[in-house]
Parts: sequence; C-alpha cells; structure tokens
Amino acid sequence: MKSSKPETPVATTARVPLRLRAEVERVLLTRNQIARRLRAMARDIQQDFKNREMVVVSLLNGTVMFLADLVRCLSLPLRLDFIGVSSYGAGTQSGELVFTKDLRLDVRGRDVLLVDDILDTGNTMARVLEKLGALGPRRIRVCVLLDKRSRRIQPVQPDYVGFEIPDVFVVGYGLDFAERYRNLPFVGVLHPHVYTAKQTSSVQNPHMTSSQPAKSASQTD
Ligand code: PRP
Repeated sequence: MKSSKPETPVATTARVPLRLRAEVERVLLTRNQIARRLRAMARDIQQDFKNREMVVVSLLNGTVMFLADLVRCLSLPLRLDFIGVSSYGAGTQSGELVFTKDLRLDVRGRDVLLVDDILDTGNTMARVLEKLGALGPRRIRVCVLLDKRSRRIQPVQPDYVGFEIPDVFVVGYGLDFAERYRNLPFVGVLHPHVYTAKQTSSVQNPHMTSSQPAKSASQTD
C-alpha cells in the first residue's frame, strides 16, 4: 500500500464571508483545495481496495461533508454504515466517549474503510478501532481528512490523510464548534475569542452540549 502524502495547507487568498468575519479568522482550506485532494485520496483507496467489496464505516457527525464527497469519488462497490460516537468533555483533556449508534452491517471478514473528519489526540479512533476490531473484519484502513499529528496521545496511524494541519481550532466542512459552522463549504480557523467566551459561559450554563471547549483550545469536533 502506497498512499499519496498528506498535504499541508498552502496560503490562500480566499476570504471569509463577511457575515462570519467576526468569528472565523481565516480560510485554511478552500472547497477547491479539498475537492482536489479528495480525488487523489480516492485514487489511493481504489488502488488498495481493488477487486474487494468494502464497507465504509463513518463516524458521526463531523464526517458528513467529507464522507459524502469522498464516496462520490469512489467507483468501486461499497456499502455504507455509521458509528455514532461523541466526546462529552468534563473539563478533561480526553473527555468521556459515548457511543450513540452502533453498526448495522456485519463486518466480519470484510474490508473496512473507517472514515473520520479529524484525528486529534487519537482517543476516539483508538476506541473505535478496538470496538470494530472485535467484530472480526478482514482488515481496517483508516481515512481522515485532517490530521493534527502534534496533538497525538494514542499511537494511531492513519492510512489515508487529506491534510496535516497545525494545532488551530478548525470549523466548517462538517467540523463544528458547539454544533455550529458544520455547513461552511470550507475549513476555517475559529477566532479564539469565540471558544474562550463559550468556555466561560459553559461554566455558567451546565446545559451547554458541546465538548469542544472543555478539551483545551485544541480541536476535537
Ligand atoms: C471529533 C472528531 C473526531 C474526534 C477527534 O468528534 O469528529 O471523531 O473528535 O478527536 P480525538 O482524536 O481527540 O479523539 P466529536 O466527539 O467532537 O463529535 P462530532 O464528530 O459529532 O463533532
């Protein structure tokens, strides 16, 4: 297996839409940069899964955009299923992982492509790999759009990586902060004042649902 190297974001002149400029600092990856990289990743995947029927297992919720675009670049037989997993931080670095949806397809003896939007500490992926591995697939390959390698705690080694990114708080293209910004067609960097403000208000409001600010100023969603 020989995958193309992850890209690192290159400076772009793309501008954040006016209505978001107070919250989103800059565009890290444009929709065109993402689309181009996805086509290369799809070629790598097709090469590796040639003549096999694969099961694509995607982690909810952040993967929605990435998954939808990636599978449309794949022209080989596949079946699709989802695992729901979320980290509900309690002010800790790792947060507590909660499984909210189990697989419906049987993956025993199957070739699995596990897809997630971002690999950060690796805690989520490590837990999912353990759970999935116990179901007896023939092999599991891990595919992520974004990799924050500098933040890794668990020794998870993804097989296909779109972009290696620095330790900045990214939103858009499926990634959220407090469940917002997922619908942006690009990946942008959130202004620190947005999540530091929310962090303060989450202490005041224990019903705030997002785990992201609790995991330091790092990226988790
Ligand atoms: C995010 C992201 C990854 C995970 C990465 O999920 O989608 O699954 O965190 O972080 P880690 O490597 O430190 O474990 P989140 O729990 O925020 O849920 P979401 O996909 O619904 O946004």
